[in-house]
Order: sequence, then C-alpha cells, then structure tokens
Amino acid sequence: MSISIVRTVAGLREQINEWRHAGYRLGLVPTMGALHEGHLSLVRLAKEHADKTVVTLFVNPKQFNRPDDLAAYPRSEADDAGKLAGVGADLLFAPEPEEMYPEGFSTTVSVAGVSEGLCGAFRPGHFDGVATVVAKLLLQSQPDVAVFGEKDFQQLAVIRRLVADLNIPVSIVGGATVREDDGLAMSSRNLRLTANGRTIASRLSDALFGAAQQISSGEGPDAAIARAKAEILAAGFSEVEYLELRDAGTLAPVTRPGRPARLLAAAWLDGVRLIDNVPVGYSSGVPR
Ligand code: PAF
Repeated sequence: MSISIVRTVAGLREQINEWRHAGYRLGLVPTMGALHEGHLSLVRLAKEHADKTVVTLFVNPKQFNRPDDLAAYPRSEADDAGKLAGVGADLLFAPEPEEMYPEGFSTTVSVAGVSEGLCGAFRPGHFDGVATVVAKLLLQSQPDVAVFGEKDFQQLAVIRRLVADLNIPVSIVGGATVREDDGLAMSSRNLRLTANGRTIASRLSDALFGAAQQISSGEGPDAAIARAKAEILAAGFSEVEYLELRDAGTLAPVTRPGRPARLLAAAWLDGVRLIDNVPVGYSSGVPR
C-alpha cells in the first residue's frame, strides 16, 4: 500500500480541485510527522467526516522557540507515509520550508487571549508560529473539516479562535487524546525519553487524573494541584512548568465552579517537555 506525496502548494491544489469537481468533502489532518497511534486516530476521525483526507507533514520552524528542540524533532517520513497508507489517508502534503516560507515571507498570524498563559507563557512565539502555519494550511487546502488532537488543548483553542475570527469556512474537530497502556499521552516527544524516563512518564497523567477526581469530588483546586505537583516531582520529573485549572471553553482561570473545566500541565523529564490535560466535571455548580 502506498500514498501519493505532493510537496508543492500547486500540486496540492491540483489534486484537491479534482476532488472538489467530483463533489467530495475534504478532511485535513495537519501533523509534524513522527506519527503514532494518536495521529492515526485523527486520520480515522477525519475520514468519518470527509470523502477524501489530506494529511500534512511539516515540521514548522516558526513554532519552535528553541533551535535545539527543532533540531531534535524526530523525522521519519517514509515510515509515516506507510502508516498513513495503512489507515487509508488519500494524500500526504509534505512541503519543504522554502515552499511554506519563501524568501520575503513577512506575515504573522497572532491570536491573543487563549494563546496567553500555560504553554504560551513558556514558549514565546510558539502559538504565533502555530496560528501562522495552520492559517496557511487551511487556506492552501480549503478543507470542509480539519482535525486536531485534544492532547494540545490550548493549541486547539487557539485554532478554534483563529478560524472564528478570520471567518475561515472550515469545521474544526477535536480528537480525544490516545494514551499508552500506562496512561501516558501519546506524543512524538516520548521517543526522546530514556528507558528509565519512560517508566516514570505516566506519573504525569496519574497525577492529573488523581487531581481531577479530587476536584470533581469537592476538594479545593489549590490543595489538589499542590499535591499533584509534589507527586510529579517526587516521581522524578525535574520541573513542573505549570499545572492549572482552566475553563474548558475559554481557557480563562476558573473562578467559580459550574462550567466544564480542564486541568492542564507541562513538566520536564529527561530534558523532554511533556504536556497533558484531563477534563474536570462539575454538575449544577457543585463539584461532582
Ligand atoms: O500539533 C502539531 O503537530 C502542530 O502544532 C501543527 C498543528 C501540525 C502545526 O504545525
């Protein structure tokens, strides 16, 4: 099984125009490659909403605030193409940086509000890079639906805001986080953990699910969050960048219970930055 790969915007549009004329609905799944089951679940989800599914593979330099992180980002295009063929994606768009950012490129798309705080506070410029490349990918392919993982929960909120604010005619669909058997959220970055780090890594999701459960059952968020942070550090993580309870829709800090909330965290292990988030349920203003 194989998948067609195009590397130019012209080539992408040529194929998409053909599908449009045939009356097909188009789905888009943007990725940075190093594909795992989490990405493949997004492709399957896109296929439920569309007749033809395009996956993009572009390690976007503009969203890396550290050159060492960009250099270390795993790349495995041939392997990725095989996996995509296996799940029935129809086209892989894998442009070079010069195709996406030709000489003279000068535009930045910046989404205020939801991009501030959390990852935005620790990765300056990251969400501008994400918003810029996602705006480009959406305009290059003009899909009916585009799918992004909830694992990057703040990114998903930024993209929803971007699409609403710029009237980009696409439905944004969020795909649930896929987890390893021990609960670790799947991520291309997990490949960079040492064997020992990998055994510790699931303590991040354990702590988040534990705190979410405690908050849902009525415990004060501050105490539950402090305990979760202590657990993560005791497990062997070197730093907890943030662990915060936010409104699941606006990502504003939660001041009063009653609305769906989300507990989000970023923490360092083995020199690798891991992020995760879990829902916190309330009913009728009373923590459940
Ligand atoms: O989530 C990712 O892999 C990237 O941030 C995205 C959405 C493909 C933009 O480069």
